[in-house]
Formats: sequence, C-alpha cells, structure tokens
Amino acid sequence: MHTKRLDTSPAAIAMAGELLRRGKLVAFPTETVYGLGGHALDERAVAAIFTAKGRPANDPLIVHITAVTDLPLVAATVPPLAGRLAAAYWPGPLTLIVPRHPRVPLAVTAGRETVAVRVPSHPIAQELLRAAGVPVAAPSANRFGHTSPTTADHVLADLDGRIAAVIDGGATPIGIESTVLDCTTDPPTLLRPGGISLETLTDLIGEVQLRSQPTADEAHGLTAPGLLERHYAPDHELWLFSGKPAQVLARLRAETEAALARGLRVGILLPEEELALMHDLPVERESLGPTSDPAIIARRLYAALRALDERRPDRMFTRDLDEAGLGRALRDRLRRAATRVIVVDEETGKQ
Ligand code: TXA
Ligand code: MG
Repeated sequence: MHTKRLDTSPAAIAMAGELLRRGKLVAFPTETVYGLGGHALDERAVAAIFTAKGRPANDPLIVHITAVTDLPLVAATVPPLAGRLAAAYWPGPLTLIVPRHPRVPLAVTAGRETVAVRVPSHPIAQELLRAAGVPVAAPSANRFGHTSPTTADHVLADLDGRIAAVIDGGATPIGIESTVLDCTTDPPTLLRPGGISLETLTDLIGEVQLRSQPTADEAHGLTAPGLLERHYAPDHELWLFSGKPAQVLARLRAETEAALARGLRVGILLPEEELALMHDLPVERESLGPTSDPAIIARRLYAALRALDERRPDRMFTRDLDEAGLGRALRDRLRRAATRVIVVDEETGKQ
C-alpha cells in the first residue's frame, strides 16, 4: 500500500474524510500527538488499526468525536461528572472513560463495557471529524510500544505503507498524549496523566483517585498495556536517574565518563541549562528545553527522544522531571521509556 501524504487544504481533508468513511486508515494531527484514525463503528476498520500498529487486541482505543453533543452516540449513559468535565475541558486533551453504547464494537474497547472518548481541539482534527461524519477510533500513530509521533515524518517512519494516508499538519502543539480519566469509578480514577494536569481536574471536581491500587479491570485480567511499564520506548537503552538535581547530574556525568572510557557511544537528553553543564563531554545530545517551561519540554520530548535514538547511541541518559502540573505526565512517559531507573542517594550520590 502506498501511504499518501496529504496537505491541510479543504479538498485534501474532504478526501481523508471519505477514506475514513470507506473504512480506510488515516493518520492526522491532534493537539496532543498524531492519531491513527479509523471508522469507530466499522469492525473491519477497527481490526485494521490493530494490525497496522501491531497492537495487541486487549489494549482499547480512544473514540474521537466532534463535540460533546455526539457523546450519546458512543456512550450508553453520561455520568454527571463526565458531563461537567466535558463542558469544561472539551475540546481538549482529556479522555473520559464512560459506559459503552452497544453500537460501539467490542473490538474498540477490548471487550470492556466502558469506552474512552475525547473531543480533540486541533483545527485539522476537528475538520477531519466533521468531514468523516462518523466517530473515529484513534490510538497514537506509532508502532505498538514505540515513541508517540508528534510530526507526519514520525508517523511515516513507523507506518509508511501500512495506512492509506497521513495529513501533514506540522508539529503537534502539546506533544504528549491526553489525560485519561475513568468516570465510571467514584471518585474518578486517573489512568494516564497527560495534557490536562491533575491539579486542573481536582480544581473542578475535587477528589481524583490515583492508580496505585489494581483496578477492577486488572483484577479481571483486563489490564490495558498502554497503561503499563515499558511503553513509549525508544529502540536503544535509556537510563533514567532520579533524585536531587545536583546528585543526579554528578552521577549522570560519572556514568557517562565510565561508558565513554569503555568505548561506548553515549546520548544525553536533559533540560537546556543542565545540558550546557555537560558541554565538555563527547556525546550525542538533545535538549528538552528550559527547565522552567514544562509546556516546551512536553512539545519537544518525543521528537528529542526519537532524534537521539536515531543516532544509535549504545546508551542514553536522562533524568526524572519535577512532578508538578504537566511534569507528572512528562515523568510518567520518561519512566515508561526507560530501560533502567536509577535512584541516586541524596547523601552519597551512590545508587
Ligand atoms: O492524546 C491522545 O489520547 C492520543 C490522540 C491520538 O488522541 N491517543 C492516544 O491513544 O494516546 P492510545 O491508544 O495510544 O492510548 C489510549 C489509552 C491506552 O492507554 C488505553 O489502554 C486507554 O487509553 N484506554 C482506552 N480505552 C479504555 C477503557 N475503556 N478503559 C481503560 N483504559 C482505556
Ligand atoms: Mg499510544
């Protein structure tokens, strides 16, 4: 299959909408990351999404709709809290888990009686959903387990020849995936931190449960792999150092020097100011942007990880980020991408 790269002209978007209606797969930009879209109510299109990504059938998909008024199309009921959250934050990077309408194929929800839904705010995603005229199931448009795509080039690097088209709408503005909130529990459960911070959610609805305890789904063996360890992963080894910045940087430098002495190629991924401190080291390097601006770090994270990975270092080093606001999602993604997490002791700088 030849994958078309489409521009964002009305004619191209109309064509992409027609492809979706006919059950073909089209990748498109959202405000978070690129999605791999397929007709959510067409079982064959849904099956094709899993095949194109190499995604296991037990990892459910998010259904994308144009507006909250379409929610009854895919949700059997709308929990009052979900209604309030949707009114406040849709369109936007928030995915709500609600009871599944029987018209949504079980293949979309991986057998669950709940469905994940969101209204993306990206203008191209909005135009495409309107052109398609159907709910669109869309996971991130990467090979399963790989780093999520924030540009059309990233999508093609993973899926060229496996999907009908990709709409090239430039780099995505937020850069990490949506926040996933289960509104079928009381209080609601944060399943994946993302583009909308936990603080923003609790401001509106009060208590939100964190996912420390196994959920009812997990107790029944229905764990969603997307929510598990090792995900969003680069191809090469990534070590993540966690602890106080000064000790972490000292340890990262020591490990780099040790690896270089053994003839290994090293890649370093750090906030701008900290990367500058490593200027004397002969390594591959990528900046995450200023420490003071998590929004910039989010926008750059996946592209920086891919860029470093493409230079094929034997080992990549990075550090844990601060947990406030968007930082919670950034920390989550880095931890899942890491092959090793090394907690640096505050006193001695030793593991
Ligand atoms: O920002 C985003 O959410 C992007 C864009 C394209 O919208 N999409 C995305 O999809 O990240 P995906 O498939 O890569 O991640 C969806 C996550 C997975 O971790 C999946 O397990 C979880 O949502 N999920 C989907 N339906 C669920 C359900 N019914 N119950 C629990 N978790 C669910
Ligand atoms: Mg994904």
